[in-house]
Amino acid sequence: MSRLYRFGVAVEDELVESFDRIAEEIGYDNRSEAIRDLMRQFVVEHGAETQNREVVGAIAMVFDHKKRELQRKLTEYQHHHYGEVVATLHIHLDESKCLEILAVKGKSGEIRKIANGLFTKKGVLFGKLIITTITE
Ligand code: NI
Repeated sequence: MSRLYRFGVAVEDELVESFDRIAEEIGYDNRSEAIRDLMRQFVVEHGAETQNREVVGAIAMVFDHKKRELQRKLTEYQHHHYGEVVATLHIHLDESKCLEILAVKGKSGEIRKIANGLFTKKGVLFGKLIITTITE
């Protein structure tokens, strides 16, 4: 069992009020528990990225499939990275917008590169990468 370390942080009162309200809505019993979860997430995400560890995750992106050649370019890009992109879920949101969620697996540096390669394509309106490690 690790020892608990207490520390003080200076934060604007509006930020604390919003944080506490949202933490309560989510269902946290207290502020410490919410902050601990955020810190764990931060350590896993950034630790995994900097150490180029084996990670699993998801790439979510919203794009306009009517944008010239975009759908073809995104598919071709995913085929090019068939080793890391293990599955793709495509959802048609309306007449032109699509949501794609890609399950990814591989070295964190490579996964980040793939995500950035997708997000920077013209017509991709939103992109988010979520990764975590499988090992400690
Ligand atoms: Ni679609």
